[in-house]
Amino acid sequence: MQCETMDLLGLSFSACAAARSGLLGCLADQKPHRPEELAGLLELDPRATTRVLDVLVALGLAWRQDEAYGGTRELAELIRLLPAGLEANLALWGHTESYLRSGEPLVAMDSSLETQAAAYRSAVGDLGRLFGSAARILARSLPVAPTRILDVGCGSGIWSLTVAERFPQARVVGNDLPSVLDVFEAQAAAMGMRERCERLEQDMHQARFEDSSFDLAIIANVLRLEPADRAARLLQRVAASLRPGGALLVVDALAEGSPKAELARSLYTLHLALRTRNGVVHPSEQVRAWMQSAGLGQVSRLDFGNHPGALGALLGVRGQPALPGPPEVLGARPGMG
Ligand SMILES: C[S@@+](CC[C@H](N)C(=O)[O-])C[C@H]1O[C@@H](n2cnc3c(N)ncnc32)[C@H](O)[C@@H]1O
Repeated sequence: MQCETMDLLGLSFSACAAARSGLLGCLADQKPHRPEELAGLLELDPRATTRVLDVLVALGLAWRQDEAYGGTRELAELIRLLPAGLEANLALWGHTESYLRSGEPLVAMDSSLETQAAAYRSAVGDLGRLFGSAARILARSLPVAPTRILDVGCGSGIWSLTVAERFPQARVVGNDLPSVLDVFEAQAAAMGMRERCERLEQDMHQARFEDSSFDLAIIANVLRLEPADRAARLLQRVAASLRPGGALLVVDALAEGSPKAELARSLYTLHLALRTRNGVVHPSEQVRAWMQSAGLGQVSRLDFGNHPGALGALLGVRGQPALPGPPEVLGARPGMG
């Protein structure tokens, strides 16, 4: 148990009230505000506003100096990096009780490829910002120097493009749905790499990935959108596109091994269930087994420092026999989430 039940309810409801009332949003500018000023602006009771602000201070989301309160840098970052924004996330989490009763998600982003394309066209830019620092950690610790990279369900291409930024000889083939690939191209242009990128505009389950032609393939935050049989088949096909010695990198909600990681994974699993019908966070042992049966030996684990959330990665090399014993850990830091 990470905190007392009484505290848990108090924390959840205070944070929720602060978000819904607009307090959190106002504090995100990190400037000093007097409680009466915030209360006037948001039509709240001034004394009650102070009580809730004090809880936010204790949570590390706000600071207090004399009579003024402001949001911390952590709060501002949290709000800036929330994919789809604070309002959309409030609506999603606010659906939890209805979901509990009905089993119905608030929205089914995965009801068709068209719905998926529309949802991801607007979301992948936010995901790119959210994953930027983790992608840099990963690019620094990659044990391969790729020249040809395939990024399956690339979204903004943040993972492959960040790797390509480190290896100037590398070229990237980005696979996604057509409208989402516009975001990939814009990101490549913003990073000065448009000339080193190609579009592969096809449903990933139908796409023809050239056999034995890539030395790095990336599947980031995609397997969670697929049921087990389709996820395993996709890994097989992508593994076949690697040259012998080429590496497959799977990034997903794969963090494990600490209470913080387990909490992040279960919260992420619930978040996914609130917005999809078929989304599933596959256990990392399962993903590792699929990679091994796709001919990838020596599956190593990579975690992402103190990056918030449940992100983790597995890297397997084509044609290398699996090592006995526990998997090698690449660049991992203890207690990560
Ligand atoms: C959660 S996003 C991840 C994007 C990116 N890899 C990242 O980690 O930021 C999932 C991506 O998979 C793409 N996708 C989903 N189903 C697809 C399909 N059948 N074919 C191609 N792309 C697909 C979506 O359009 C979206 O860009």
